[in-house]
Formats: sequence, C-alpha cells, structure tokens
Amino acid sequence: MKHEKDWYKELVIYQIYPRSFKDGNGDGIGDLKGMIEKLDYLKELGVNAVWMSPVYASPNVDNGYDISDYFSIMEEFGTMQDWEIFRDGAHARGIAIIMDLVLNHTSDRHIWFEESKKSKDNPYSDFYVWRDPAPDGGAPNGWMSVFGGSAWEYVPQRKQYYLHMFAKEQPDLNWDCEEAREKIFDIIRFWNEKGVDGYRVDAISYLDKGLDGRADFQETIGTVACANLEGTHRYIREMAEKTFAPAHLMSVGEVNINNEQDSINYSSAKSGEFNMAIPFVPPIVEIKTWSPERLKEDLERDYQILKEDGWWARFLSNHDKPRQVSLYGNDELYWKESAKMLACYLHTLPGTPFVYQGEELGMTNVQYHSIEEYDDIDTKNYYMSMLSDGASEEDALAESQSISRDNSRTPMQWDDSAYAGFSTQKPWLGVNPNYVKINAANQMQDDTSVFRFYQKLIALRKEHPVMVHGDFALCCPKKGPVIAYTRSFQNETWLVIHNFSEKEQIFEHDRIQGTETIILSNYDERAKERGKIRLRAYETMILELQDKNKR
Ligand code: GLC
Ligand code: CA
Repeated sequence: MKHEKDWYKELVIYQIYPRSFKDGNGDGIGDLKGMIEKLDYLKELGVNAVWMSPVYASPNVDNGYDISDYFSIMEEFGTMQDWEIFRDGAHARGIAIIMDLVLNHTSDRHIWFEESKKSKDNPYSDFYVWRDPAPDGGAPNGWMSVFGGSAWEYVPQRKQYYLHMFAKEQPDLNWDCEEAREKIFDIIRFWNEKGVDGYRVDAISYLDKGLDGRADFQETIGTVACANLEGTHRYIREMAEKTFAPAHLMSVGEVNINNEQDSINYSSAKSGEFNMAIPFVPPIVEIKTWSPERLKEDLERDYQILKEDGWWARFLSNHDKPRQVSLYGNDELYWKESAKMLACYLHTLPGTPFVYQGEELGMTNVQYHSIEEYDDIDTKNYYMSMLSDGASEEDALAESQSISRDNSRTPMQWDDSAYAGFSTQKPWLGVNPNYVKINAANQMQDDTSVFRFYQKLIALRKEHPVMVHGDFALCCPKKGPVIAYTRSFQNETWLVIHNFSEKEQIFEHDRIQGTETIILSNYDERAKERGKIRLRAYETMILELQDKNKR
C-alpha cells in the first residue's frame, strides 16, 4: 500500500496478541493460521489496521518480546509464508499491517549476543552494554530491572556484566555502537521490503543509558534512571529518517513520558521521531492512581501540548494492562453499560484509537486460583518478591491477580464451545470461565451487543471527519465522574458525555435543547429536557448540537 503523509490519523488499530487470538492447528497456541481464519471478523468489525505483537523467532521468556531472529517467524506461530498470506489477506480487505519492533534488547539466544558474550574482542563485542564489575566484584551500579532483581548479569567468560532492563534473557543492545545501529536498521529495511505499513516500537525510551554520568543514579529502576536522555532522541530520529519516515509508514513508540517536553519530542511532527506515542504506566500505578478527575486533567493537558503539531495514540487496554472494563468500568452489574461507555470514550477522543483484542466483546479480568496457573514472567516475579517481603500467599496472590498481564492475555472468547472456540486442545493459558456468556458468536447475533457498538463507532469514524479532525474542548466540571466534551469541525459540533460511575448524575450545558439528534448511546429512552441531561449508571452518548446561529 502507498501512504499519504497523515494517513495514520484515520486509522482504527486493532491489536492482536497472536498467542491468544486463535489457534489454527490445534496445539493450544494461537498462530498465523488462526489469524488468517479471523480476517473476515476483523473486516466485519471495521478496523483498518492490525498491530500484531511480536511473531518473530523467540524462546518466549517474555512471550515474543525476546527475539532470537528478526528475519524469521516463531515456529509455534507458523512460517513466513503464513505471514505473507495474512499480509495479503489483510491488504485485500483494506487492513494495514503494523509490526511490533523490539529494539531495546534481543533475546540472549540471538546470535549477536551469543557471539558478544564470548570475549571482549569479537566482531559483536560492542553490540551490548558490557561493564567491568565494581571494585568489590559486584554489579557496576545498583539498578534494578523492570521485572525485579538486578539489571546486571555477570558472564564469567568475559569477566564482565551486561545490562538488561527487563529479564536477564533480554540483554540491552548498545545503541552507541554505530555498527549495531546499522544492523538494527537492516531489520526494519527487511520488513519495509515485505510490505509492512507501520511499526509499534517497543520500550524505546532507554536507548541512551547515560552510564557516563548523565543518568539519575539516585533512582534504582534502570529504565526510570535513564529515560528520555538526549542520545535516545538522536537515535530515534536517525532510525526514523533512515527507515520508516520516508515512505510515511505509520509509527508509534512505546515510551516513558514524564513532562511536556517528552510528549513533544516523541509525538510532534517537527521532532521527526514518531507519529504518536503509547506512554507506559505500570499497571500497579494505574490501578492505584486513576480517577475520572485525573483522566480529565490528562486529556486537557495532552490536548494543549500536541494540538498544533502532534497526535495521540488512544488506548485503554493492551497486553500489559488489566482489562479495561474491570479497571475503569464495572465488570459485574454494569458490565455491558460500562464496556460500551469506555468504547465511546475511546473512539470520540482526538487521536487514533487502539482496540485490544477482546475489548470489543467486553472481555474481563480473570482470577486463577493458584500462582501456577499464571504464565506472565512479571506476575511470577512480583508474587515471589511479595512472599520474600513477608506477605502471605493469599495476599500475594490477590495483588498479583489484579495487576497480572495475564488478565489481558487469556484466550480470545470466540464461542461457547470447549476452550471458547479458541482451540480444540487445552490452551497455553486458561480460558476465562465467563466465555459461556461473553463470546463473539453470541454478540454477533445481538444488535445490542458490545461488539455491535464497537462496529457502529468504527463506522461513524469513517463517515464523520469530526471524529478525526474535530477540535476538542472539555465542558464538564473538573470534579466528579462526568466527562464531557465537544468535538467540532467545520459546521458540525458533537457533544459527548460519559458517566464514569454507577450513581445518577445531572449534566448541564446551555446548548442542550432536548430535541437534538442522538448519534449514539448505550441506553434507549430518555426524558427530553432543556439545558440538562440526567445520566444513568455508566451512561454514554453522542449528541449532535444544533448550529449556534440557527437557534
Ligand atoms: C514492552 C512490552 C512488554 C514487554 C517489554 C519488554 O513494555 O509491551 O510486553 O514485556 O516491553 O520488551
Ligand atoms: Ca497453534
């Protein structure tokens, strides 16, 4: 596909986590064959891009985010030919392909690392971040990895430590090495040649480690200590210029954002880095700090920072977060209402919406009964560290359940047959038992389903430029659970209102006549009143305001 400069603004991107999407060969693991089978489902939903989490060869210590060969497909997922069939099938349906690029680190089984660790003077010796031990023989500094434990691992053969911001099987690449950078860019060039339309670039805020004294050595988490240093931006600009930017391939970086300047650097056009950014917030922080008030503050601030020259990636879920309806909504009594409200929120904000597989069905968090049922390396490490800090098994399990990345990685719920129609075999990760009620087959037969609601929102975006290009202005009190805003473009103005609570709320706005068209809502009848709207539990609606001048 050929791409115009700003084409990414019109996308609705669907994220597939291939391991959990659909098993095409009956071994309990999702794969490319399964993805091919479900292309018509994606077409019916209406999305026009798919981002697939990594499908490259990997020993799967971190489910594909540890890559051992960037030029081949993981055996469990199929072959390069399967990938090409998926690509062609997607393109034929007007769906762009976005690949996940993991370039901060490789797997420790990648040939570069296997060579690099052998000696201090081999052709790959400088491809990773090696340092001598501290004078006492310990790690070069006190940095901890994201998944717990030291960020440094000793290799006797080299008598040195290497840096790993994530698991020890994920050694960090040394972006200061020009030769390594060129080899990394070759990976992207290879996928460009294969007809990829864009990239989601993983964990990309830590390329410049600042070990020469520029990092924050008071900070103990390595990724926090060196986030967003000058060299990182320089390397991203170089990568963009040499690889994805010239053909206007879409790009989104997964980054750390601590201040206004970080947002501008990563997601404004003039910076020459990415089209937009996915800010990484650890689930435990998000669970403890989110509130409707906080969302409103963030919306307002992010809009002001980027409205002239930037763009926003909008998402409520991904493979690193709990399920959105469990986190921001109510996955019991108001399951359907809140799932739809969150959908409406996601699609009506300025920016490009990202839909994570299963959220279009309102899939929820899972609760396994023992730590053995979990798969996620982060969950397991977290659980162990709670135990060693003296927590009881019960408390450790309860907290792990709420933050686990497995909440979003349970198999996709296709129908109510065994294993939710995901596979004919016991899947690699347990199916959420609520699949009998929450599944694609029954939602596709129900006009009022969450799936049908997503479909409507996605179709609306194609018909109404106001959803893509409209100005944004909040119009609700700063306090309280109501989030409301207008979007306006040319002579069209939409008023979008959400009640982020189960309690009734009164929303007032002087332009409400009581007679305007309701473009979409998650409740049926409504009392018509002038100047105000009574909102029920998790009610959401889009109203078309009448032209100011015609009043
Ligand atoms: C990103 C990915 C996450 C992975 C990590 C290390 O945060 O989204 O799944 O574990 O990077 O690659
Ligand atoms: Ca399979």
